[in-house]
Amino acid sequence: MSTLQSLGSERPHRAEAVVDLAAIRHNVATLRARAENGAQLMTIVKADGYGHGMIPVARAAREAGADWIGAAVLEEALALRDAGDTGPIFCWLTTPGEPLEDAIAAGIDLSAAAPWEIDELVAGVTDRPARVHLKIDSGLSRGGAVPEEWPALIRAALRAQQAGRIEIKGIWSHLASSDEPKSPANEAQLATFTEAIEVAESFGVDAEFKHLANSGATLALPETHFNLVRPGVATYGLSPFGHALPSAELGLRPAMTLKARYAMVKRVPAGAGVSYGLTWTAPRPSTLGLIPLGYGDGLPRHASNGAPIQSGGERRTIVGRICMDQCVVNLEDDQAAAGDEVVLFGPGADGEPTVDDWADAAGTINYEIVTRLGSRIPRRYIDSGR
Ligand SMILES: Cc1ncc(COP(=O)(O)O)c(C=O)c1O
Repeated sequence: MSTLQSLGSERPHRAEAVVDLAAIRHNVATLRARAENGAQLMTIVKADGYGHGMIPVARAAREAGADWIGAAVLEEALALRDAGDTGPIFCWLTTPGEPLEDAIAAGIDLSAAAPWEIDELVAGVTDRPARVHLKIDSGLSRGGAVPEEWPALIRAALRAQQAGRIEIKGIWSHLASSDEPKSPANEAQLATFTEAIEVAESFGVDAEFKHLANSGATLALPETHFNLVRPGVATYGLSPFGHALPSAELGLRPAMTLKARYAMVKRVPAGAGVSYGLTWTAPRPSTLGLIPLGYGDGLPRHASNGAPIQSGGERRTIVGRICMDQCVVNLEDDQAAAGDEVVLFGPGADGEPTVDDWADAAGTINYEIVTRLGSRIPRRYIDSGR
């Protein structure tokens, strides 16, 4: 989860991911304003803040009004507490035998989807009851109790609550298709979720929070907001709808710019093959730039022979295969030198490629492009608003 420290403040870097915390704050405030009927906002910072850096993002989100911070796994949630976050934190992905007692003692809200998970929570309680959100599988078929097993989960949770070991704080679920707001799957999941709440209430559950909406639903499905929304990717200024509805049209600002400096620039003759397998051949004498980033840094190898970059104000293309530590760009006849800056992606405002352009080149989604960036790339935080 850590990123490499900068190699001395003034020295030029091989590469860096610049994260604008003002953009994070802007996006959090925008999402909060989109939450219907005063619903609270949980900013999702799992997977090192989708590659942007979990702790700085969580701090910026709190400053911009995030009521909750959401983390997938226990290590993340505990790291947030260790970093001094004292507000509500929700963490939903645990496996049997994990040290739940640490999270319970730290007042972290946890999820349960089966009676055995309630038992594990009860066993982890020391001085304060565990704060629990019961998860219904409303149709994603990932985590959550299927509707047939929902009553057994509720009964187990109520027994533990009556014994003073847990507090049922929430009922929640997760959507499969909010990136396609018109999909009938959304309506079906909403109906299943609503029914699960009714069943729980008929058993006597009085949960303060009900939550279902991720970014797509926060932006496009207000009927799913209940009283808490959980956007992730939109926090980072990326659209959950990809090119179909770009972030600018949603009022979001992409927060990350990925830059590097050429390790080498050289001229090759027509016919020169490039990179492993020689999958690209220079059709004419060409200038090539060597970017010191590769799949070891999280660039997708699938984006070989096609990913765009910006160099000297021009759009150019990565040619040949992306290697572990490096890749090659066809600079055509550009004037460039070792040490010059190359922008792989950014907000797009200055003509640079966007995360979505990289996602297209790799046949994936914007989420994956930023999240997989590795710890070899230092993150540098700027604050364009201050
Ligand atoms: C349970 C849960 N809630 C919320 C989110 C945020 O989703 P998104 O990034 O699509 O907004 C995720 C991420 O996948 C998730 O797993």
